[in-house]
This record gives sequence, C-alpha cells and structure tokens, in this order.
Amino acid sequence: MTVVGTTIRLPSTERVVMSTEPPESTVSPPEGSPEQSPEGSASAPSRRTFIATTAVGGAVVAGGLVAGPSVFGAEPAEAAEAPPGSRVSLTVNGKRHTVTVDNRTSLLDLLREHLNLTGSKKGCNAGACGACTVLVDGRRVNSCLTLAVRLDGAEVTTIEGLAKGERLHPLQQAFIDQDAFQCGYCTSGQIMSGVGCIDEGHTGSPEEIREFMSGNLCRCGCYVKIVRAVEQTAHGK
Ligand code: FES
Ligand code: FES
Repeated sequence: MTVVGTTIRLPSTERVVMSTEPPESTVSPPEGSPEQSPEGSASAPSRRTFIATTAVGGAVVAGGLVAGPSVFGAEPAEAAEAPPGSRVSLTVNGKRHTVTVDNRTSLLDLLREHLNLTGSKKGCNAGACGACTVLVDGRRVNSCLTLAVRLDGAEVTTIEGLAKGERLHPLQQAFIDQDAFQCGYCTSGQIMSGVGCIDEGHTGSPEEIREFMSGNLCRCGCYVKIVRAVEQTAHGK
C-alpha cells in the first residue's frame, strides 16, 4: 500500500494513520540519502536536530537584538570617557598661549588645529619629510613628533613668525631670489630648517648644507636652489 497522508482500512479493521513524516528508524539511511551527512558522520545533526537548533539559536540571537546584553549577562558598554587632557602654556611667535589639549596632541596639530597657524605643513606625520619643521627654543624639531604637553614654557617659532612686519626674513627672500620652490609644500619646513642650519653654523660648504638639511625632503627636486638660498643667507653670496 503506497497511499500516504490519508486513512485506510486494513483487513483487520484496524485504523492506521499514515504520516507524511518518515518513521523514526534505527536503520541508517541508504547511501546518498539526504538524511545522511555528506561525510556520513554519525555525529552530524539530523534535519530535525538542525531545525530545532537553528530555531533556538535564532531565538537567542533575536532576543539578543531585542533584549540586548541581558541575554548574555553582559552590561552595556560604558560611554567612552573623554581622553585625558592637560593645560599647556607656551609662547608661539612671541605670543603667549594657554590651551587645554588631549595629551596625545602633537605640536603640529596644536599649531594647525588650535592656534590656526597652518604655515607648518603635515607631510608624512611620521618624522620622515621635515615639512612640519619649527624651532623650539631655537632648535629645529619635527613638530609632528613633538608632544605639545611637553612644551610648557617653551618658545616656538614657526614660519609665520619669521618676517618682521612687511620685511621678509633674509632666508625667505633668498628662496624667492633663488627660485627655490615649485609647489611650495615643503618650503616652510625648508626655510625653518635652513634658519636652524645657519644658526648652528653648518654652512661651510654646499655638501655640509646638504648634509644638515637632509631631513627635509622636496618632492619637486629643488635641492640645488635650496642650498643656494641657504648659502646666500649665510654668506651673502
Ligand atoms: S610631517 Fe613631520 S616630518 Fe613629515
Ligand atoms: S617645492 Fe614642492 S615639495 Fe618642495
């Protein structure tokens, strides 16, 4: 008898309901049967187990989405605390500033983002190009690598502080005279580094100038004219 899903009468007058579900069986399904896992593993879940597990798992996930951390016993994440900050007082181009900054703030970001002095450029932000060079207490530094909070009481000079009114610093003028820039992105750093190089007395020869200006890169390749500008300023050439 092959009828399924209906009631039939057997000769013994017993009434039997034929289910559309296959009977539970201890006999393994035949090779290739959908009930058998691809690997034929005895531990592979049956279809019923899989559906039941999926249903429960889905309920947990849905509960997690609705009820949030209570499902897993975790507390809501604390609101992110404000990063630690410090007050720093420093003099920039002769003007005193007192600001509260995140302790991770670089001098470059302090200048550009807090004091609106954007002449110092951010090239690599990693100490490799020199575009951010400024003077701190007369010494040239990469401001992108210098923490602002360490400069309490320091004297900082940036490219904006070199000219005296309408009169350019001699090295600024020399850069114009020698046509020592093209795009100009590196130029403020080159000039600040050149001022430091001259003050340090490392201008004995073009080779020495190159050596002591080697931390300042120029993607436009103006090195020959930059060296001439430093020589002009140092020696009046
Ligand atoms: S931006 Fe500071 S060294 Fe490049
Ligand atoms: S002038 Fe363009 S990077 Fe130096």
